[in-house]
Amino acid sequence: MNNELQKAMWNGRAGASWVRHNSLLETLLGEPGHVCMDSLRLIPGMRILDVGCGCGNQTLDLAARLDTSSLVTGIDISEPMLALAGDLKDANTDSLGADVEFLLGDASESLFPDEQFDAIYSRFGVMFFADPTRAFASLRVALKPGGQLAFVCWQEPRLNPFFTAPLQAALTVLPPQAPATPDAPGPFGLADKARVSTILDRAGFQSITVTPLALKLSVGDAQSFDEIFEELVQIGPAAALIAESDATLKAHARSAVYARLKDFYAPGSGVAFDANFWLVTAYN
Ligand SMILES: C[S@@+](CC[C@H](N)C(=O)[O-])C[C@H]1O[C@@H](n2cnc3c(N)ncnc32)[C@H](O)[C@@H]1O
Repeated sequence: MNNELQKAMWNGRAGASWVRHNSLLETLLGEPGHVCMDSLRLIPGMRILDVGCGCGNQTLDLAARLDTSSLVTGIDISEPMLALAGDLKDANTDSLGADVEFLLGDASESLFPDEQFDAIYSRFGVMFFADPTRAFASLRVALKPGGQLAFVCWQEPRLNPFFTAPLQAALTVLPPQAPATPDAPGPFGLADKARVSTILDRAGFQSITVTPLALKLSVGDAQSFDEIFEELVQIGPAAALIAESDATLKAHARSAVYARLKDFYAPGSGVAFDANFWLVTAYN
């Protein structure tokens, strides 16, 4: 099994969308990443790997929490997302404590020497492996003995209207889709709590915890609903379906999503979704 499909996606439409909407996505998704960072034991001179670092916002936030003798390495398969990560690093050198490097590569492919990292971190970057047990096993080998893994991932779709509300609205007018395969690589690839524990256990991790994290994701407190809608309608699974539709269906689907997203909007607070994650920690 390999990750070629994911490579194509993240170097194609999905990567382009994350780059274009980087600022909105960071506003929406900053908090789960920061809660996950809070669970890391930070020490001077440490080395951290940020898996699936994307546009690098979290890599840079990690570096801001560390001292100048530390190094944060962000790895990702997406060239366009890493290009933005490099630009953001150059634009924020003053706020970084630790040094930062970005690498293009498949994090599941044993790219690092053994026992390199004190910690491995990821916000939403570890749910896309074709063979997660193998991937986590190879990441574990890159951790020092006693080193920590901490990541945050989505719980199941029905607990995350950020994905499901626009998608269900779009599907009231678009042709039905084949149901998603449970546990397939994708945003919900690690949504099953028992499966996450089993994968990490088989990958050789110890002291595994999988803790529910319920947060509100909000965006656009200073924007009109129409402005927020124009961005939200271009991200996530509904956006992909709408993009593939003809002009008439596209217009109907956009109207359906517009009406549904309005349910999550309040003037002055913007659009806010209840969201449910797993905060996962484990040790080598
Ligand atoms: C949902 S995005 C999250 C990006 C970033 N962590 C964030 O929270 O902004 C998932 C990221 O994982 C990356 N990714 C997927 N499979 C990967 C793999 N096998 N190795 C490295 N990165 C991968 C994608 O390219 C993408 O940037």
